[in-house]
Amino acid sequence: MLDVNRIDAFHGRIQALWEISLTIGEAEIVSLVGANGAGKTTLVNTLTGLLPSASGSVEFCGKRINGLKSHAIVELGISHIPEGRRLFPDMSVRENLEIGAYLRRVWKRKEETLEEVYRLFPKLRERQGQLARTLSGGEQQMVAMGRGLMSKPRLCIIDEPSSGLAPIVVDELFRTIEGLRCSGMAVFLIEQNVQQALEIADRAYVMENGRIVIAGESKRLLQEELIKKAFLGM
Ligand SMILES: Nc1ncnc2c1ncn2[C@@H]1O[C@H](COP(=O)(O)OP(=O)(O)O)[C@@H](O)[C@H]1O
Ligand SMILES: [Mg+2]
Repeated sequence: MLDVNRIDAFHGRIQALWEISLTIGEAEIVSLVGANGAGKTTLVNTLTGLLPSASGSVEFCGKRINGLKSHAIVELGISHIPEGRRLFPDMSVRENLEIGAYLRRVWKRKEETLEEVYRLFPKLRERQGQLARTLSGGEQQMVAMGRGLMSKPRLCIIDEPSSGLAPIVVDELFRTIEGLRCSGMAVFLIEQNVQQALEIADRAYVMENGRIVIAGESKRLLQEELIKKAFLGM
């Protein structure tokens, strides 16, 4: 579905990504883990059209997407749930969700999709009239995810959803992400919470200093000494 082939990217003159290659298949959950500053968000931004890649290619369902604008990439079926949630704080939950359905392809059926999002996150139905800024961190993350799902994506890229949330909230969030697979959607999950990100993923990539340094089945990676030592504190 997504095929990334040897991309490089720069922040100004500083190279931030080095020959990144990865794939994501249909209905697959793939995690990308790595320390703060490793380049994870930079990679996400090159996939979603926010940052140009200097070389290499990104293909989605056989179509080259690098060089396309963000809205064109969303239109093709890739949804970006950004790091830090980026909600409109003074708009209601419902208004924030509806923004995710602005595409012509999905606008007509937005009521139906909104129902699906409320079924996935019943809390948001209760809070639909509330301003986003009055929500807890966990609820704000639900709104960010719901907004991303409103565009009916085939691939959802979720950048650090667990950041700043209490462990019990994180557990619930990860279960929901795991459940997205049932609808046939693929998920690219970016996380610093390595243990849980590997537990729900089929495969994973580990990033360090702008490079992919380890890739494989996540069950196997959970057993790897290097990962245990570097990320799991064992
Ligand atoms: N807009 C930017 N301008 C310049 N440097 C940046 C910018 N965004 C990120 N960087 C740098 O790129 C590197 C990777 O950052 P980032 O992709 O945010 O890492 P991660 O998401 O893994 O924490 C870091 O060294 C960071 O300081
Ligand atoms: Mg980041």
